[in-house]
Amino acid sequence: MDGSAPAALRLHLGCGTSVLPGWVNIDLVARAPGVVTDIDPTTLPYPDGAVTEVLAEHLFEHFSFAEEGLVWREMARVLRPGGVLTLEVPDFEWVCGRFLQAEDAWRDFYVVGAVDHYGGCGRALDQRWGILQTMFFGNQNGAGQFHRSAYTEGKLRALAAHLGFRAIAVETRFNKGGQALRAVLTR
Ligand SMILES: C[S@@+](CC[C@H](N)C(=O)[O-])C[C@H]1O[C@@H](n2cnc3c(N)ncnc32)[C@H](O)[C@@H]1O
Repeated sequence: MDGSAPAALRLHLGCGTSVLPGWVNIDLVARAPGVVTDIDPTTLPYPDGAVTEVLAEHLFEHFSFAEEGLVWREMARVLRPGGVLTLEVPDFEWVCGRFLQAEDAWRDFYVVGAVDHYGGCGRALDQRWGILQTMFFGNQNGAGQFHRSAYTEGKLRALAAHLGFRAIAVETRFNKGGQALRAVLTR
């Protein structure tokens, strides 16, 4: 024991193709070199308090109701005191509002393999069956690309309080074709 601080351990969960240097980049599917596929976010192979930071962008909405509880408890368990969880998810309240205002004008079946086809309505936010439907159901263009849960700012704050996170900051931003919630939670 030389008394030096332990090395920072940073987990990038559901990284997709965004491989960050200095992070353990984890995903169900290796869509880029350097992605680790044998780590399950519901049972992380790290001791309590071993992790410095977790980044999860557009991942948590992919977990089932059963997985969601396990993953959140893992976040609370592995992060060290002062450790930070940053996550981004679709803003479900915004999605619902936009869907109700949008035109109910279905045009076409989804074309497998086509980029942003989305029922013939593409990324138009004034159409219910374009990208808006993917914020409910995922873009469904491969393994792990299905949504099975949803988040509001109220739910994020309640979850953080329930699990004893010390601080939570939530902001909205436009990303991936719609409004998202970006939350920074401090353990
Ligand atoms: C919408 S993509 C987001 C990718 C990237 N974070 C971004 O923001 O561009 C969701 C990612 O989560 C991954 N994913 C889904 N379920 C997962 C799971 N149980 N464990 C790890 N990754 C998962 C998918 O394979 C996919 O790469």
